[in-house]
Amino acid sequence: EILLNNSSISLLDDTELEEMCRNVIQDLSAYGLCVLDDFLGRKKGEAVLKEVLDIQSQGLLRNGQLVSAKSNQDQRIIRGDQICWVDGKEPHCPHIGFLISQVDAVIVRANRMLDNDRLGQYNINSRTKAMVACYPGHGSHYVKHVDNPNGDGRCITAIYYLNLDWDVQASGGLLRIFPEGWREDKVADIEPLFDRLLFFWSDRRNPHEVQPAYQTRYAITLWYFDSTEREEALRRYQKDRRLNHLK
Ligand code: OGA
Ligand code: OGA
Ligand code: MN
Repeated sequence: EILLNNSSISLLDDTELEEMCRNVIQDLSAYGLCVLDDFLGRKKGEAVLKEVLDIQSQGLLRNGQLVSAKSNQDQRIIRGDQICWVDGKEPHCPHIGFLISQVDAVIVRANRMLDNDRLGQYNINSRTKAMVACYPGHGSHYVKHVDNPNGDGRCITAIYYLNLDWDVQASGGLLRIFPEGWREDKVADIEPLFDRLLFFWSDRRNPHEVQPAYQTRYAITLWYFDSTEREEALRRYQKDRRLNHLK
């Protein structure tokens, strides 16, 4: 768990950042999700992609884990990605570190900008490390799930996509979100396009799936914690551990 730096420096000037955050707040409140295209710009996005490709070629990616899966076989059917966690301070990922600081700046600012909106009900001052994920083609996918079904503290999922010239018709790999409270047949289909940043509520309001990918598909995900929900979850886990010790 990583504390947010309240003075994250944004690439944007103050007015641009403010406008971007207003947009994020509006979309999250109205739809439960928000898409920002061209988040870093071509050059910086490509530098992030290069670091991800290097991580992969160094063999640092491992099969994504599920607490609930009974076997590796089971697991690949549920979740076919390969991942690793980075904090962005490692010597081999300065640009991933930069990406993280830019996403942090948006979240910190948006969270500070309002008190009476939905985002204002959260107090966000920490997050996970960044999960670098690769779906290696061959129909790899992630079945429909909720990131935080049981109050583990995560309130916002942020995903940054890295796929140049991605053609959904040929390569699949759509993220399909089934937002709660939308009309039955309404879904949000998000293409995993290069330099696209996506935010959505991590809880049961947003079940989602990664549809089978037939090309290698890269993304970097951050989960932001609500401090109150996180503290309660940690207290609960501690209590469970104590009870397990007594057994
Ligand atoms: C699980 C699970 C995924 C996650 O434990 O079964 O779905 O996002 N984990 O934490
Ligand atoms: C996840 C997930 C979506 C995506 O890792 O929990 O849902 O588009 N990823 O990569
Ligand atoms: Mn997910």
